[in-house]
Amino acid sequence: MRTLRSAAPAGLGLLGLTIAAAQAPPATVKTALYEVRDGTRVDARTFAGWRTWRALACDRCHGEAQQGLVGPSLLQALKVLTPLEFQRTVSEGRQEKGMPSFGTNPRLGDNWEGLYAYLKGRAEGDIAAGPLTSLGESPAP
Ligand code: HEC
Repeated sequence: MRTLRSAAPAGLGLLGLTIAAAQAPPATVKTALYEVRDGTRVDARTFAGWRTWRALACDRCHGEAQQGLVGPSLLQALKVLTPLEFQRTVSEGRQEKGMPSFGTNPRLGDNWEGLYAYLKGRAEGDIAAGPLTSLGESPAP
């Protein structure tokens, strides 16, 4: 009986390890929209999208991690919004509901696709919340 009792915690420990490994972010994810390594290094266009998110301060209504504040969670929204629906929403806004229009902002005009890619990566769980760095022009090792 002694052996059985001591075997149980060891088995649970192994199970815990397996679960932790399954939840670790994958090293590299490449989709049609973005490439991300280790959750925080992204392709140049997605990086520009993240910088646009910061520059336009979308976080003050949608939350630092896009989780939602006075505006809805974009982690949910980006699971369903198409690029065109996104572009229209952000450029025209929904003024009567509190979402401003960014249509005249050149930064948005130049970077909305990267911003969409960034938010899509957040919604898919491929890109981590918080600061990112750019994979830049350096070729993949
Ligand atoms: C002043 C607050 C505020 C700011 C700043 C803001 N939003 Fe919003 N946003 C809202 C609100 C409120 C809604 C919900 C509108 C509605 O009910 O239809 C919304 C809706 C949205 C939606 C549509 C969500 C859906 O489910 O269809 C998207 C996408 C979005 N915002 C993206 C952004 C982005 C990107 C930025 C930065 C460029 C931004 N928002 C800045 C308040 C804000």
